Amino acid sequence: MIAPDVAVIGGSGFYSLLDGAEEVVVETPFGAPSDAVTVGTVGERRVAFLPRHGRDHSVPPHRINYRANLWALRSLGCRQVLAPCAVGALDPALVPGTIVLPDQVVDRTTGREQTFFDTGAVHVPFADPYCATGRGTVAAVASRSDRPAVERGTMVVIPGPRFSSRAESRWYAAQGFTLVNMTGLPEAALARELALCYTAIALVTDLDAGIDGGHESVSQAEVFRVFAENTERLRAMVLDVVTELPTDRTCACADAHEGITLPFPLP
Ligand code: ADE
Repeated sequence: MIAPDVAVIGGSGFYSLLDGAEEVVVETPFGAPSDAVTVGTVGERRVAFLPRHGRDHSVPPHRINYRANLWALRSLGCRQVLAPCAVGALDPALVPGTIVLPDQVVDRTTGREQTFFDTGAVHVPFADPYCATGRGTVAAVASRSDRPAVERGTMVVIPGPRFSSRAESRWYAAQGFTLVNMTGLPEAALARELALCYTAIALVTDLDAGIDGGHESVSQAEVFRVFAENTERLRAMVLDVVTELPTDRTCACADAHEGITLPFPLP
């Protein structure tokens, strides 16, 4: 297998577009990833695809083995990760179907494995959680479409699997958070611990409960329906991004371990 250097962690629907795709079952010291990884070619790039929830969407957000997923992708050779995800909007201007490139994230999750490093002193920088190069590339690709991306956003990650109460939702909005999601952490933090470039690509599927203009309550059916309606657009965009991502990493993500002695080697 020719090693991939880019990974896409997303929902199902990408397999058929990867030329000559082959499936790789990866085991990690942290257990099994959500599914086998599909490796194929897009343009000149070798790309790995991993469905975050498993191909049959059987793994809920709080049960995803985020450590195994990120470790598996790095062990295959990936150094840049594109992470499409569904989000609720906490700002009514972000109508369903909008693609947002969050630049900040807030952790409200509980009980998830947050780190690879339970020994040693490994404190990676996380002031800017997302890759500047990745965000710039997605923004450039989206700007050529009829629906450019919103290039900023603060995403609060909740434990799930339930949606937020109205009061929670209003409280998040009052803090200035603009997006809400259930999977963005610890995924982004673990990517940084592995010095991977990580770019969240958030698709707004609903206005969260309690936000002006929102429905009575957010429903799973609505989230899945809007995501499905936008899958083709998102997939086409992600594939363009894959071909346009620079191969040389000049961003700060690769320097995450500067001055740090790792307690064990990374794959
Ligand atoms: N994912 C999609 N919509 C969401 C919402 N409203 N809250 C949390 N996660 C979501």
